[in-house]
Amino acid sequence: MASWTLTACGDDNDDGGDSGGKTKLSVFSWWTGGGEEAGLKAMVADFEKKNAKIKFVNDAIAGGAGDKAKAVLASRLQAKQPPDTFQGHAGAELLDYVKAKQIEDITFLYEQEGWKEVFPETLLPLLTMDNKIYSVPVNIHRANVLWHNSQVLDEAGVSAPPKTLDEFLDALDKVKSKGKIGLSIGEEWTQQHLLETVLLGKLGADGYSALFKKGGDWGGSDVTAALEVWKELLGFTNSDAASLTWQDATKLLSDGQAGFNVMGDWADSYLSGDLKRKPETDYGWAAAPDTDGTYQFLSDSFTLPVGAKHRDAAIAWLKECGSKSGQDAFNPKKGSIPARNDADPALYGPYLKWALEEWKKDKIVGSLSHGAVASLAWTTEIGTALGLFLQSKNVGKFQDALGEAAEKHAV
Ligand code: GAL
Repeated sequence: MASWTLTACGDDNDDGGDSGGKTKLSVFSWWTGGGEEAGLKAMVADFEKKNAKIKFVNDAIAGGAGDKAKAVLASRLQAKQPPDTFQGHAGAELLDYVKAKQIEDITFLYEQEGWKEVFPETLLPLLTMDNKIYSVPVNIHRANVLWHNSQVLDEAGVSAPPKTLDEFLDALDKVKSKGKIGLSIGEEWTQQHLLETVLLGKLGADGYSALFKKGGDWGGSDVTAALEVWKELLGFTNSDAASLTWQDATKLLSDGQAGFNVMGDWADSYLSGDLKRKPETDYGWAAAPDTDGTYQFLSDSFTLPVGAKHRDAAIAWLKECGSKSGQDAFNPKKGSIPARNDADPALYGPYLKWALEEWKKDKIVGSLSHGAVASLAWTTEIGTALGLFLQSKNVGKFQDALGEAAEKHAV
C-alpha cells in the first residue's frame, strides 16, 4: 500500500483518528504509478493550503485501471470499513455502489457549490440515480487514443498515423519489418482497453453504445469483424504483455522499441512528465483508428462512503475535487481535461489542448474498461471471457461469452 502524506505531523500509527490537532483523511485511489501520482499530489498540495487542520493520508492501492484496488475496496465496504472517500468511475460502476447503499447522496454539495452549472450535461446523469447525485468528478479522460513514436514511424516509412483499422494493420506490418514491436501492450485490462476502441471503430458511436443497452446485439457480424481485427492486432504485440503494466507498455514506445500503443490519455502525462519525452516531436497521437469524431470517455470521481469516519474532512476533500483550483492543479499533471467547463486552456500541454477541443465537438460515448458503460460484475465477466480467449484464440466462443454476459447484466 502506498503511503505518503504531505504534512508531517502527529501520530501516523493510529487507525485514522485525530492526530496532532489534525484530522486524518484517508483517500482511496489507485494512483500510485508514473503519470498518475503527480496529479494527485498537486491536488493534495492545493487542498492542504485550504485545509490546515486536515492531514491527507494516501490510501492508494497500485494497479492500472484499479484492477487490484477495486477488489480491496469491495472487501472493505463489505466489512463496513470504508476509507473516508474513494475513487469511482462515473457511470455504471458508480451506480453499483449506490445500489449497494455504500455511498451517500451529495446533492447538497452541488447546490451549495453551484456545481450543476459547471459540470457538463453529459456527465451529470452518470453520477445521478433517482434525482440524487452521488459523486464529484475530477476529470475527463479519453480512452480512444493511438500513440506513436515519431522516429520509429519515420524509419518504417509510415508518414502519418493511420486513420483506419486497415491502414493501422499496414503500418504495423511496416514497423514489424524493421524488427520492432508494432503495438506495445500490457496486462489483460490493457488488451480489453484495445478491444473497446476496436469495437467503437467497427460499430461506430451509436452501434457501440447500443451494445451496452438492454437487448444489445453482441451476436452480429460487425462484432465478429471487430473481434477478428482485434485478434489480428494482438498478433503485432510484444510476447511478454501479460507481465507488463500500462506504464511498461508505454515505455516500450517511449524507448523506441515499439511503434504504436493504444491507451487512455494518462499516457500523455507519463510520456511528457516522468519520461520527459517531447510531445509532437518524440511522440504523437491521433484518434484510435476509425474513431475520429468520437470521444470515448471516462471520468474519475470521488465519493462520500456511508459510515466514513471523518465525514467533514471527506466533504472538504470533495469540495477540493470540484473546485476550479483543484481541477486546474490536478488535470494538467494527470493527463486529463477538467470535468468543469471553465478550465483555463493555457495551463494545458499540446495533447490536452487537442483533447479540450475534441471534447467540445466530438460525439461522446462511454468507456467499457473504465466503468462508464458496464457494471463491475459485467466488466469482470468480459475480462474472464477475454482471459479464456487468450488461451483458446477462439473468436466464436469469445463472442458467445460476450453475448451471454450482456444478457445477464444489461439493464
Ligand atoms: C483508469 C483511471 C485513470 C487512470 C487509469 C490507469 O481507470 O480512470 O485515472 O488511472 O485507470 O490506471
